[in-house]
Amino acid sequence: MKPISTERLIIREFRPNDLGEIYRILDVELKFKDSSEQDSSIAQRKKWLEWTIQSYEQNRLLLNPPYGDHAIVLKDSMQLVGTCGLVPVLAPLGLIPYYRYMADAIDTECNYPEVGLFCAITSHYQCRGFAYEASMGLIDYAFSKLKLKRIVGITKQYNNPSIAVLKRLGMRIETMPGHKWMQVVGFLENNLNTDGKTNKMAG
Ligand SMILES: CC(C)(COP(=O)(O)OP(=O)(O)OC[C@H]1O[C@@H](n2cnc3c(N)ncnc32)[C@H](O)[C@@H]1OP(=O)(O)O)[C@@H](O)C(=O)NCCC(=O)NCCS
Repeated sequence: MKPISTERLIIREFRPNDLGEIYRILDVELKFKDSSEQDSSIAQRKKWLEWTIQSYEQNRLLLNPPYGDHAIVLKDSMQLVGTCGLVPVLAPLGLIPYYRYMADAIDTECNYPEVGLFCAITSHYQCRGFAYEASMGLIDYAFSKLKLKRIVGITKQYNNPSIAVLKRLGMRIETMPGHKWMQVVGFLENNLNTDGKTNKMAG
């Protein structure tokens, strides 16, 4: 994916020399884990980074969407302050009445494929609107370039900053408090003009 430029940020592909900083942000500082099988070693983060970088080219060759983490850097200093990206989602979204209505999804047992949004910002730079700004950049790209119909954000009910970002993005928020990992889901629909231009986003 070509870099996305917003008012204060550039969202670009990761490079091998980002390892130290993204390890510090995700593993040391935020202690972020995608699964219980993931450890917080720099060796594991290095494998992740290599896989992430290789996937850019492979996704391009396979004509896949540009899934995967991308670096968020400050325009004025080029400092790496976080990561964001589009992720494939496979989730039992038919459990959510709004989704059943919007996507004509009547089955509550099946998983439905959607495209999700992910973002993490280093603690020192949180609460300055960077997650919102980076997410808006990705949404603009996904809606205007990829012509994506819908984007989702899934988070836990205790993750108030993440929920605040989803709300500020204009997402329709649905909750499933009893669910193990799909407790809060934000939906944003892409309303296209008949000429194919995105003119409005609605939650
Ligand atoms: C979620 C995260 C990306 C937000 O990053 P950020 O750059 O601080 O986000 P923004 O500055 O754009 O917005 C933060 C919002 O959270 C709100 N917020 C911050 N701390 C909060 C708290 N403890 N309770 C409620 N709201 C809170 C802010 O007020 C702001 O909302 P507003 O714009 O309506 O005022 C960041 O907290 C993070 O990296 N968390 C760890 C990784 C993570 O959980 N990612 C989401 C995975 S689904």
